[in-house]
Amino acid sequence: MTSSEIRKKFLEFFRERGHAVVPSSSLLPDDPSVLLTTAGMQQFKKYYTGEVDAMKDFGSLSTTSCQKSFRTSDIDEVGDESHLTFFEMLGNFSFGGYFKKESIAWAHEFITKVMGLPISYVTIYEGSDTVPKDEESRAMWQGLGITDIREEGMEDLFWGPTGHEGPCGPTTEIYCRNANGQDIEVWNIVFNQFFCSGSREDLTSGAATLIPLETPGIDTGMGLERLAMIVQGKHTIHETDLFSDSIAMLSDTMDHRSKRIVADHARALCFLIADGVRPSNKERGYILRRLMRRIIVIEHTAGEQRINLVRDLIPVIIGKYHAPYPELHIDTIFDEWDKEKQKFLKTVKNGLKELQKCATIDASTAFKLYESYGLPYEIIKEMGVERASALSRAGFELEFQKHQEISRAGVLKKFGGHGLLLDTGELKATNEDELKIVTRLHTATHLLQQALREVLGPEVAQAGSDITVERTRFDFSFHRKLTDDERKAVENRVNEIIKKDLPMQFVELPIEDAKNTGALYYFKEKYPEKVNVYFAGSSLDSAFSKEFCGGPHVTHTGEIGHFAIAKEEACSAGVRRIRAVVG
Ligand code: ALA
Repeated sequence: MTSSEIRKKFLEFFRERGHAVVPSSSLLPDDPSVLLTTAGMQQFKKYYTGEVDAMKDFGSLSTTSCQKSFRTSDIDEVGDESHLTFFEMLGNFSFGGYFKKESIAWAHEFITKVMGLPISYVTIYEGSDTVPKDEESRAMWQGLGITDIREEGMEDLFWGPTGHEGPCGPTTEIYCRNANGQDIEVWNIVFNQFFCSGSREDLTSGAATLIPLETPGIDTGMGLERLAMIVQGKHTIHETDLFSDSIAMLSDTMDHRSKRIVADHARALCFLIADGVRPSNKERGYILRRLMRRIIVIEHTAGEQRINLVRDLIPVIIGKYHAPYPELHIDTIFDEWDKEKQKFLKTVKNGLKELQKCATIDASTAFKLYESYGLPYEIIKEMGVERASALSRAGFELEFQKHQEISRAGVLKKFGGHGLLLDTGELKATNEDELKIVTRLHTATHLLQQALREVLGPEVAQAGSDITVERTRFDFSFHRKLTDDERKAVENRVNEIIKKDLPMQFVELPIEDAKNTGALYYFKEKYPEKVNVYFAGSSLDSAFSKEFCGGPHVTHTGEIGHFAIAKEEACSAGVRRIRAVVG
């Protein structure tokens, strides 16, 4: 069965059962609390909460779709057998229409009868202090003859809320066996029963409450690629008809992991560009840029004859997806690809010039080249030839880690009355008085970054930061000297925010949720699974500035006092440096 047949059969199955077939929404959601569309239910959020009437809009209380989705959380996993950034999610949804009984029975029928697959086992929610065990689902699965029913907790079997607040509830999952004999989760059926007053974090910590929804609903999600892998009896998603042409096109000399990364990222970039994302240093644009640059490096290291690898692949991808997704315009995609590739290769060239000046390239030199010029390890290794013969990936990564440990914020060190009181790598203070000053400078640095972005545009991104008791020194990407007017405007904007005396607060969020808030983060830093997002303002949504950070910060911006830029100068190619003081 081809993937396009699976898509059709799924939508048809639910159409026959009273669902309105709704086209995929854009990868750019309406909802500002999320960066990219990660699930089919996102376009229907308002129907779950009852803000909008599904009957009026769709002529039915249930819908079905095949949704374009993108999960940044899996970027680093791409290259293995089953992870993807972009994927298609098949789903059926009910807004106060049918509930558990029908959704379980239909899922069972679709998997076992229409797809002809045996179900290995299912899972149900085991319950917690605040939410009861899902006995109803157990009874229904049993009624359908399923005997292997496993119970799992909140982490895996409670869905939502996406973003800060919203519908959520327990889930039940269906597992089927793939050609490797592994049981893979294919379908996740969410019972939207509650409205959560806060984020998922708040729910676990007890800070948010669950209010039963007036109209409980159904939200299901089944990855097309995974389903195709099982239906087509393949060992990996890359062997399915969705990827086989792309993989076949990639050089035989390239390793599996690289091929999969190129196939995934090239497909993802086509869809992101088609929905209007453009490469930049901000939010969605940064995600796109990261995908593009990663595969430009692979192209580059694959050798001269493979230099148009991705450009050759794009038409193959579009050929495969054009019918269901006519928004994929080849000219726009080519245009954006060519522009970004040119730009990146220019940066790489500057880095290479610097590389040629180094007599030997050890891990620390390599890290500096990476840090200052964005030169990736692969290119350093390849272009450094014998000068880089002692350089290993492990050594480079160790250097990377050392750097993170030094710069990991929030590390208070006490050395018996002398030495440093605080050393986060970014902030240094030897006593309480100095600590107060560097804390003010630290908050001022956050405000400075945001003001720079407002005045100069989103090209501005942090390239480094160092704060001592005398001054803050902030490096950022920007291509030219600031004019006097721009410098003044930045200074004024920071002082304006100081005068507003906004509260400086933070929330702890899982990294993906934190990214979805649109908070700035330092792309060279490797963050833990949970991060603090510091924001200046009364709420995260209305905040003037938001950044991943370990603190410390003032409690109100007014404590900073007057802010002034002391110096603005070039730091390295494409990077400016500002020294600023507070008084
Ligand atoms: N929204 C649910 C998911 O993404 C179905 O798994």
